[in-house]
Amino acid sequence: MYEHVRFHPEEIDLSNYRFLITGAAGFIGSHLVEYLLNHGAAQVVGVDNLCEGRESNLSHFSGNPAFKLVIADVCDEEQMKSLMQGIDFVSHQAALGSVPRSIQTPTATNKANVSGFLSVLNAAREAQVRRMVYASSSSVYGDQPTLPKVEEITGRLLSPYAVSKMVNELYADVFHRTYNMEVVGLRYFNIFGPRQKPDGPYAAVIPLFIDAIRNQKPVYINGDGLQTRDFTFVENAVQANIKALFSSENGVCGRVFNIAVGERATVLDMYNSLREIAGAGLDPIHRDNREGDIRDSLADISAAQKLLGYNPTVKLNEGLRRTFESFV
Ligand SMILES: NC(=O)c1ccc[n+]([C@@H]2O[C@H](COP(=O)([O-])OP(=O)(O)OC[C@H]3O[C@@H](n4cnc5c(N)ncnc54)[C@H](O)[C@@H]3O)[C@@H](O)[C@H]2O)c1
Repeated sequence: MYEHVRFHPEEIDLSNYRFLITGAAGFIGSHLVEYLLNHGAAQVVGVDNLCEGRESNLSHFSGNPAFKLVIADVCDEEQMKSLMQGIDFVSHQAALGSVPRSIQTPTATNKANVSGFLSVLNAAREAQVRRMVYASSSSVYGDQPTLPKVEEITGRLLSPYAVSKMVNELYADVFHRTYNMEVVGLRYFNIFGPRQKPDGPYAAVIPLFIDAIRNQKPVYINGDGLQTRDFTFVENAVQANIKALFSSENGVCGRVFNIAVGERATVLDMYNSLREIAGAGLDPIHRDNREGDIRDSLADISAAQKLLGYNPTVKLNEGLRRTFESFV
């Protein structure tokens, strides 16, 4: 998927660098692995405990000598330290996603997302890697009502998941200032695309809708469907990650960036676009709003544009089309 796009600078040759990607068998992690291997990275070490991820997400790289997948828990700090030897760049994507899951099982979310984060961060520090980029989330904006969301203004958090991501940002900030470590956080806004899981109790809305349309299953919309989201195709998130890893701009390290498109759509409009692409799809059934969900979401992406050179080129409809076509 990434042969025809290049997000790293001209002067950077990926065959000089070794990467460690946590959550590599998951949705976003597998896309990062794909980009790095397609662009000739010397080595990519994927780490995943397969609690959500699937080895099949990486099956097209199983014969690639530059790639290895290590089945491990990021909370195992000794193993993280050992895997970190010789690594230049770290991308930390492993976490238990989903706001509702974190409301059901807050300690599991804390273990994977907070203890796991600190374990990887500390191992990366000890190994003196060049830079670590990590996944934060728009959930840190909590009940802050202003749109668009700007990085400096967050609200009261609405879920244990949001707490876990906020704690990541606090640790990253302290590690940057205390140890002079190069750490960059990306606050993702509703990322979607090929390989995002449509099944399981905590599936995200776009793969759920596509699966329902393809299999003529009923579609449930929480509330009136007029809640808005800044839906972001995964290729834009990959672009942000690669640019954050290699940006030489002052002021990039030790901060967080909104990663989105900077446009919002209602859930109902998004569903109708999918129906149009599919030429099918039942009328949606409305049900109660979900606990911990925010009403509206829209990112100000100007900081990422200015400091990372980020430019989200794939807009909602093209992203939906590419995602729909990838589901078989
Ligand atoms: N997809 C989104 O819209 C979105 C939005 C905001 C933030 N994020 C964040 O982006 C990151 C990637 O999300 P994703 O959508 O690809 O989710 P995903 O569930 O597909 O990927 C996460 C991967 O991490 C692995 N993992 C979980 N706990 C682990 C542990 N303790 N040790 C090792 N591996 C573990 C899972 O098996 C999975 O493969 C996560 O940190 C998530 O919180 C995602």
